Amino acid sequence: MALLFFFLLAVSATPLSSMAAALPSFQTLNTNSHFFNPKLPPNSLSSSKKFEGSSDLVNLRYHMGPVLSSSPINIYLIWYGKWSVSQKLLIKDFILSISATDRRRRAAPSPSVAEWWSTVSLYSDQTGANVSRSVVIAGEHSDLHHSHGTDLTRLSIQNVIATAVQSARFPVDHRNGMFLVLTSQDVTMQDFCRAVCGFHYFTFPSMVGYTLPYAWVGHSGKQCPEQCAYPFAVPAYMAGGGPGALSPPNRDVALDGMISVIGHELAEVASNPLVNAWYAGEDPTAPTEIGDLCEGLYGTGGGGGYIGQVMRDEGGGTFNVHGRNGRKFLLQWLWSPVLKACAGPNALD
Ligand SMILES: *[C@@H]1O[C@H](CO)[C@@H](O)[C@H](O)[C@H]1NC(C)=O
Repeated sequence: MALLFFFLLAVSATPLSSMAAALPSFQTLNTNSHFFNPKLPPNSLSSSKKFEGSSDLVNLRYHMGPVLSSSPINIYLIWYGKWSVSQKLLIKDFILSISATDRRRRAAPSPSVAEWWSTVSLYSDQTGANVSRSVVIAGEHSDLHHSHGTDLTRLSIQNVIATAVQSARFPVDHRNGMFLVLTSQDVTMQDFCRAVCGFHYFTFPSMVGYTLPYAWVGHSGKQCPEQCAYPFAVPAYMAGGGPGALSPPNRDVALDGMISVIGHELAEVASNPLVNAWYAGEDPTAPTEIGDLCEGLYGTGGGGGYIGQVMRDEGGGTFNVHGRNGRKFLLQWLWSPVLKACAGPNALD
C-alpha cells in the first residue's frame, strides 16, 4: 500500500490533493517535497465564509470605485502601544516582501510573498489601472502611551490616526498613501475576537482632516489566539486527542498569525480601498471581499478541515511563502478574478 502510493506520487507531477487529504502520512512518503496538508478544526471566526476551490456562485462584483493603483503604495505605519524591535522588524519584513525585489534587487525564492500579491494586482478599476505591485513603508509613528486609551472602537481608531498624523507630521499623501494601525496585546477593539481580527475602512475629514484608506490589525496574543492566530492556535474544545496547532514559521504564535491577517487586510484595502470597488454580496456595510472568500485556505487541497498543502521548515515551522531576509510566512490565499477560485503561489496544480 505504502509502496504503491509512493510509486503513484513519484510518477505524478501533480499529485491529486484529494489523495493527499486521504493520506495523513503523505509527507513521509514524498521525500523530495516538504508539502503536507494538516487537518485542523476550522477557525471559528471564518468557517461560515470559507469557499473550497472554484465556484460560480461567488458573485464578486466591481462597483465602479478606484483601486490602489498609484505606485508605490505608501504605507504609514502606526504602532499603538508597546512593540519590541524584533516584532517591528518581522512585520516590516513582511510588508516589504510584497514588492518583488528588495533595495539590492534581490527577489525571494518562489513561492514568494510578491507572487502571492500578484493575485491582488489582477484587480483593476474602470480606468484600466491595476493594483500596484509595489508597497513601501513611507512613515512610522509609535504611540507608546496609548494616546486614546486601551479600549478602542471603529470610530476612535480615527482619533489614533489623527494624533499620529499630527505628531509624526505625516504628509497628506492623497496620491499613494494609506494608514496601517497595529495595536499591542493590551489593547481591546470593538468586535475584536468576536467578529474580526482586523478591518479596513477610510478616514473622515471631520476626524483626520481628509479621506484616506486605512487598515487595523490587533495583536491577539492575550485575547484570542485561537480566533486570530489560527492555525498556530486552535480552538480549545479540540485540546486533547485532536490535531494540535501548527508551529509558527517565525516562532511567534501571535505575530505569525497577525501577518496573515495583515496580508488579508492589505489585499482587501488595495482592491476595495473606499469600499466601492471589488466585493461580493449586496450589502456594502458588510462586504465579502477577496480575503474573506479564502479564509482558512493556505494551499491546494484545503477545505473541510484541511488548510491545504503547505511546507515545513527544518525547525518544524509551517509556511507557504518566502519573503525578504530569508523570512518565511504562512499567508492565507486570495480570490483570483481570473481563476474564479482561491489562489496562491504554492498551488500544486
Ligand atoms: C491587470 O488587470 C487585468 C484585468 O483583471 C488583468 O487581465 C491583467 O493581467 C492585470 N495586469 C497585471 C500586470 O497584473
